[in-house]
Amino acid sequence: MRSCKNLLVSGGAGFIGVNFIRLLLSPEHAFSGRIINVDALTYAGNLSSLEDIEARHGGKRYFFEPGDIGNPELVQSLFKQYEIDTVVHFAAESHVDRSIVGPEAFIKTNVLGTFTLLEAARQYWGTHPEGALFHHISTDEVYGSLGETGYFTETSPYDPRSPYSASKASSDHLVMAYHHTYGLPVTLSNCSNNYGPYQFPEKLIPLMILNMLSGKALPVYGDGKNIRDWLYVEDHAGALWTIITGGRIGEKYNIGGENEWENITLLHTLIDLVSCKTGIAADTIKGTVTFVKDRPGHDRRYAIDCSKLKRELGWKPSVDFETGLAKTVDWYLAHPQWIQQIQSGEYQKWLKKNYEAR
Ligand code: NAD
Ligand code: TYD
Repeated sequence: MRSCKNLLVSGGAGFIGVNFIRLLLSPEHAFSGRIINVDALTYAGNLSSLEDIEARHGGKRYFFEPGDIGNPELVQSLFKQYEIDTVVHFAAESHVDRSIVGPEAFIKTNVLGTFTLLEAARQYWGTHPEGALFHHISTDEVYGSLGETGYFTETSPYDPRSPYSASKASSDHLVMAYHHTYGLPVTLSNCSNNYGPYQFPEKLIPLMILNMLSGKALPVYGDGKNIRDWLYVEDHAGALWTIITGGRIGEKYNIGGENEWENITLLHTLIDLVSCKTGIAADTIKGTVTFVKDRPGHDRRYAIDCSKLKRELGWKPSVDFETGLAKTVDWYLAHPQWIQQIQSGEYQKWLKKNYEAR
């Protein structure tokens, strides 16, 4: 099993990064090293999600470093200052709809930012990268869109169709190129849609929960029959740790929930759950479901075959969808302050822009 002492987490103030850091610094976890979290705190980054971590571990096992991964001086200095042996690269622009409205930030962070981080790792680890690892977190969306049957495997050809997925595909290729050309020790993972606590409410599940709680319309794109494979975020975090400590260098691993849902069916399940937990009548909520203009280039179906990860490293999802959704709704109900804090003026402007155009 690989050990890591000084772990540079990029984008650790975002949804999955927060859950990953919380997992590694939980009392029962085997990790005993330090985490250095570099994050530019875009609209999607929120330090309040890590307030208790900062209070307990700040300056000892947890260090927050504000900044852009596209800044070479900053990232190079972090490698030296903290003697980084492991990079866990989450930082990205991550929302497909935003990539359609404004693709530039996606190229800057996802492509150029990844390049800058790779260069810093290559320079710091030099020709003796023994024991080091650069783990890149990517998405199933790089594989494109499936029809009614079939699954994405690690050998499926890349066929990205949105500016977001194209920028992620580009970063995946750069990571693998740095391995083949320079011998950089890398692993890469492509995961399906995540859900759970701390997710920014622009993505389907938290957006729908919050709209239900405030009586707003529930906007369903197109015919609502697009299919996604959902994984509870803590299971993704666990899979990443499994790959970081046991994965083969130069390999990529698919991570998925084996849990496919049509958007509209998922929404009805969520409505029943929210109704049950809040007492708001399910029929009242159902009356707010609104079919809106489809997302341009909307991928029809994603489905992951994660048998390689299961077979080689013994990982499997541990949270079933019913339990995960219930935990997620409970979390949003219990954290009104967190919600209030992130629903800034900028967020309101985005909602107006995205949904009024439909
Ligand atoms: P997120 O949008 O919630 O968080 C991204 C984080 O990166 C934020 O904290 C943001 O401030 C930070 N960031 C953005 N640009 C930066 C920059 N230039 N420099 C430093 N920090 C920057 O994203 P997420 O949902 O947590 O996704 C994390 C990673 O996982 C991404 O690479 C994404 O492509 C991938 N992924 C996400 C999902 C999903 O369902 N959310 C599924 C598969 C893969
Ligand atoms: P999203 O959470 O944006 O993830 P991704 O597009 O990366 O899979 O969307 C999940 C699915 O839900 C996708 O098919 C688009 C759809 N969707 C809606 O129908 N309405 C919405 O308001 C949003 C945000 C998404």
